[in-house]
This record gives sequence, C-alpha cells and structure tokens, in this order.
Amino acid sequence: MTALIAASPPLDINSAYCNLLQCTDFSDTCVLAERGGELLGWISAYRPPAAPDTLFIWQVAVAPAARGEGLAMRMLEELRGRPAFAGTRVLTTTVTADNTASWSLFEAFARRHGATLERSPRFERQAHFAGAHDTEWEARIAPLPTQSQ
Ligand SMILES: CC(C)(COP(=O)(O)OP(=O)(O)OC[C@H]1O[C@@H](n2cnc3c(N)ncnc32)[C@H](O)[C@@H]1OP(=O)(O)O)[C@@H](O)C(=O)NCCC(=O)NCCS
Repeated sequence: MTALIAASPPLDINSAYCNLLQCTDFSDTCVLAERGGELLGWISAYRPPAAPDTLFIWQVAVAPAARGEGLAMRMLEELRGRPAFAGTRVLTTTVTADNTASWSLFEAFARRHGATLERSPRFERQAHFAGAHDTEWEARIAPLPTQSQ
C-alpha cells in the first residue's frame, strides 16, 4: 500500500506507520482492491468525530494499470454500503485544484446520487502549508440517500 500511494501522485506519501494504523484501527472504514494477488486500489476514510453524518474520504489510489475501469467508483460505493457509515448523508474530501481525475470521480459520484457538490478552500497554501503545498479544496457532496443496513 505504501508503494501504491507513492506511485499515485499527487497523493501525499504517508509513513508506513500511518498506513498500518489505517489498516488496523480504521479497517472498517478503509477498502483495498486486489486482482491476482496484486494490490490495485485503496481508499482510506473515516467518520469525523465532530460530524457523525459525514463520510470523509482521505486518500484514493488506483494503480496506473487499473485506471479508467471504474475501480475508484466501485470502492467508494463499497464504503458507502459499510455498516460503519450507516446513517451518513454527506461525503467530504479534499482535492487540489488541478487534479482533474479526482474532481471527475467526485463529480460523477455526486451525479450518481443526485446530490450537489460544493467546493470551498479547506487547507490553504500560505496559511496552512507555508507555501509548500497547493491549497486543498474541500468537496462536500450532499444530500446522500441514507443507506438502509
Ligand atoms: C483519481 C483516481 C483514483 C481515479 O481512479 P479510476 O479507477 O481511474 O476512476 P474511475 O474509473 O472509477 O472513474 C470514475 C469517474 O471519474 C472519471 N475519471 C477518472 N479518471 C479521469 C481522468 N483522468 N480524466 C477525466 N475523468 C476521469 C471517469 O470518467 C468516471 O466518470 P463517469 O462515471 O462519469 O464516466 C486515479 O486516477 C488515481 O489514483 N489518481 C492518482 C491519485 C489521486 O489523484 N487520487 C485522488 C485524490 S483524493
């Protein structure tokens, strides 16, 4: 997983320790996809403690060889159906302005669910990253139909 994330710019590279915490403490809210024993996809996510109606998507990575086959969308839908996300009505994530593939994914997800995608700056280049990282724009998708579990 650490290698997949590293091969998926512009994702930030996490420590292996961070990825291992996702795989253990947060395994109910993360998903990975394998084919023939090869790791092809990964989404880390969680339910923000202060916003229990929200499914926050942290990172989405699909191996270059598996892109364009609907895998990222399948993984998002798999997460949406998890008991851990029962009752959520909102999906949020952050995306840099020039990440066309990521915006397309979340715009397609909003369309599928008849929801609206709103953008606002969340973590800003100067104020939060001291100029070292592009602004991360929050995409907020709502309202999502409640999943029946
Ligand atoms: C973004 C990423 C996860 C998409 O994975 P994927 O499996 O190829 O996406 P899907 O095949 O499920 O496509 C979902 C939708 O996004 C669109 N899309 C995906 N990649 C696109 C691209 N490069 N340009 C335009 N649209 C794109 C698809 O057309 C589809 O829309 P549709 O349902 O209207 O046809 C993948 O490109 C990736 O890993 N990129 C590097 C890491 C990254 O940027 N992650 C996202 C940051 S949170």
